[in-house]
Amino acid sequence: MTDSLRPLFLTLEGGDGVGKSTQQRLLAQWFREAGREVVETREPGGTVLGKELRELILHGGYVDPRAEALMFAADRAHHIATLVRPALERGAVVVQDRYLDSSVAYQGAARDLDVDDVRGLSLWATRGLLPDATILLDLEPESARLSGPKDRLEREGGEFHAAVRMRFLDMAAQEPERWIVIDASGTVDEVQAAIRAALSSRGLSAEPRP
Ligand SMILES: Nc1ncnc2c1ncn2[C@@H]1O[C@H](COP(=O)(O)OP(=O)(O)O)[C@@H](O)[C@H]1O
Ligand SMILES: [Mg+2]
Repeated sequence: MTDSLRPLFLTLEGGDGVGKSTQQRLLAQWFREAGREVVETREPGGTVLGKELRELILHGGYVDPRAEALMFAADRAHHIATLVRPALERGAVVVQDRYLDSSVAYQGAARDLDVDDVRGLSLWATRGLLPDATILLDLEPESARLSGPKDRLEREGGEFHAAVRMRFLDMAAQEPERWIVIDASGTVDEVQAAIRAALSSRGLSAEPRP
């Protein structure tokens, strides 16, 4: 398979307001400008069913932690099966805002579910699909750029967000071949340049190889 047809699955992770959506857009643009088909998507809520689940999870009332984990997993199973896998099979680049690592960080660590259970549930839901690279936009929660009304998870306290950040950093340290940790405190352009440089150094550049 030539490089231009090699499918690529990239995910962006990190807390709210670290710049995931902003960097996703710019990353997608990089690959599009290189002539690749790019699919930009998100979890939860990347499909019609997922949007309904997202609304229920983030803006509804109290949800039992196990019910919540299953709802995220249901969204993920449907999203990967109907949107992400078909795109990868066409040879597209999928740039996704949040994936299973968010479930592990949020539901596994900060609520009282077993981390291995949460990860296992996601892997079952997706038939074991892991990204080629996962970009962690790392920022101390105090510096998060939040605006507008907060959803249910965003309303959690500072300790919760600090715990989530530590979980992400721990996961990145445990699986360094998949994770790329980026300091997200710079300007939009600086952060994007760091992401592109890190991907290039792993042979995942949008530019054709010389
Ligand atoms: N590096 C940056 N410096 C300053 N503001 C930024 C930066 N990255 C994103 N923003 C702004 O911060 C807000 C949150 O960014 P966003 O990309 O939506 O974060 P997320 O998707 O991680 O919640 C947006 O208003 C965005 O324009
Ligand atoms: Mg966002």
